[in-house]
Amino acid sequence: MKNVLIVYHSQSGNTEAMAKAIAEGSSAAGARVVLKKAVDAVDTDLLNCDVVAIGTPNYFSYMAGMVKDFFDRVWITVREKMADKPYVAFGTYGGGGRQAIDTVEHICNGLKMKLVMESLAVQRKPTPENLNACKEFGKKLAT
Ligand SMILES: Cc1cc2nc3c(=O)[nH]c(=O)nc-3n(C[C@H](O)[C@H](O)[C@H](O)COP(=O)(O)O)c2cc1C
Repeated sequence: MKNVLIVYHSQSGNTEAMAKAIAEGSSAAGARVVLKKAVDAVDTDLLNCDVVAIGTPNYFSYMAGMVKDFFDRVWITVREKMADKPYVAFGTYGGGGRQAIDTVEHICNGLKMKLVMESLAVQRKPTPENLNACKEFGKKLAT
């Protein structure tokens, strides 16, 4: 059974809706899922999972501060232990685009983590179709 960690930040619920749908998909595929807001996530969450999905809204063309704070807090402990750890990023944006996801990928690249699927970006509030895509995304993460 895969241990899937989903870490995210969300203020108005858009990215959270994605996170919950991804968690639902992973659970349905038989994974053990840990779903945590970035503010609550710690280094051992990252060390103990088999795969991690990191979710962030686009705030000022960057990841949300709380997601950056998560990376800041865990960096020293995890930086030598993340090589080849499978990950994906996901999130929502307003009028901009994928910049926040790019910044997550930049940090994960620095940790030598392995991007296992194309990261998933949605504009504003996810539609039912977007949420179905998130569930499929979650299923793939679990397998
Ligand atoms: C403080 C703040 C800054 C934002 N900056 C951007 C931005 O630079 N580019 C963009 O596309 N959207 C921007 N947005 C819009 C959010 O990315 C968008 O509404 C997103 O879906 C919010 O996700 P959430 O509901 O998970 O918080 C910003 C929103 C906030 C609150």
